[in-house]
Amino acid sequence: MDSVNFLYIYIAWLITSVDSQVISARVGSTVVLPCELSSLPKPSMYIQWRTDFAVVFERSRRESYQGERYKGRVDVPEKQLFKGNCTLVLRNVWFNDAGVYYTYLFMKRSKRSLTRFIQRIKLEVYGKCFKF
Ligand SMILES: *[C@@H]1O[C@H](CO)[C@@H](O)[C@H](O)[C@H]1NC(C)=O
Repeated sequence: MDSVNFLYIYIAWLITSVDSQVISARVGSTVVLPCELSSLPKPSMYIQWRTDFAVVFERSRRESYQGERYKGRVDVPEKQLFKGNCTLVLRNVWFNDAGVYYTYLFMKRSKRSLTRFIQRIKLEVYGKCFKF
């Protein structure tokens, strides 16, 4: 790896480790992880939400993909996405949904695809009996 690439990765790491939002949700509730695109997405683009371990959700227009662990619980509504709203809705939150969520925008090109990192959000999940 050359030093320019290394520098890029280092800067990306620095940005993502500093600029992170934390959202708390109660187990069993519906949580909304906010996301906004700086410009309206083109039809050739698709949005991806993922964790360090798996893809959570992807959408390109009508076509969408729900990760195995998130089946039937997750969405970025199509109408919202094409207004530039990439907010993820996650229903029936489980304890093991806690973690860091990353959002990427992919731009399909004829031969290669470009990836743009949008943001990262940390999700914390607390129990039903939340007493001090
Ligand atoms: C963005 O989408 C979410 C989830 O669909 C929705 O709750 C929220 O109101 C939307 N925000 C705006 C500004 O439309």
